[in-house]
Amino acid sequence: MFDSGFGGLTVACELAKELPEESIVYVGDSARCPYGPRSLDEVDGFVQQIGAWLVARGVKLVVIACNTATAAGLAHAQRTFPVPVVGVVEPGARAAAHATRNRRVGVIATRATVDSGAYTDAIRHLDAGITVFSTATPRFVEIAEQGVRMAEGPIENYTSLASKVYIRPAFQEIAREYLEPLRRCDIDTLVLGCTHFPLLKALIGGVVGRDVTLISSAREAARDVSEILARRQAFAAPGHVPCHEFFTTGADVEEFRSFGSRVFRHPIGDVAHIDL
Ligand code: DGL
Repeated sequence: MFDSGFGGLTVACELAKELPEESIVYVGDSARCPYGPRSLDEVDGFVQQIGAWLVARGVKLVVIACNTATAAGLAHAQRTFPVPVVGVVEPGARAAAHATRNRRVGVIATRATVDSGAYTDAIRHLDAGITVFSTATPRFVEIAEQGVRMAEGPIENYTSLASKVYIRPAFQEIAREYLEPLRRCDIDTLVLGCTHFPLLKALIGGVVGRDVTLISSAREAARDVSEILARRQAFAAPGHVPCHEFFTTGADVEEFRSFGSRVFRHPIGDVAHIDL
């Protein structure tokens, strides 16, 4: 699995819950985070590079645990790699199409994901009668990355207890600016179209209100992985004790280990640095 940083660990966490006997190899491409402001072509190149690295390590399936990378490179990766490749956009779209009652769905994501139209296409492919309202919320990536780092800081004015992410009061204002227009569109479902955003569930939910169902693709994506492995009879042997491995392209492996553990919700053992 891979992502531009910690965000994909929200997907890894669900995967470890769904498939507790499977070993995960996770790459956080922190050196090149964020992916969101980059061109789809450039991010497609990252997907090819990291995917090839994972395949060379002998993984039996690749999860692109990043919406931006999924939008940019899923189809190319599926054509290139000899193992199944699962993205996170289609699972999120499916969950949203199932959840909405009034068929008005909001999507928040990075600039690259919104510009790609991947969510709108995926949701409307499932139900062409759904109206999709998309907004790029690029600062949420930075807020999530910062919030994970700051959670160990001194006074916590507002903390999402679920994810132990620190939210500065100033972040609330940014969230309101991004989300108020969506709220006025009368959406009943909001897709957290970036794997960093589940870390900000409390902040986002606080602004859009309880009537709006928040969708993260993590659980659906984990189910997709489970189905593919079942079809291919490729599950780890019953009783297998998983051995997870974590890699970061960032310079600070210790930071990745300590903050990553918070997002993964299990202690992460050793983290190794890789240069790509
Ligand atoms: N977590 C990533 C996503 O799901 C991207 C965040 C970023 O690097 O901009 O889109």
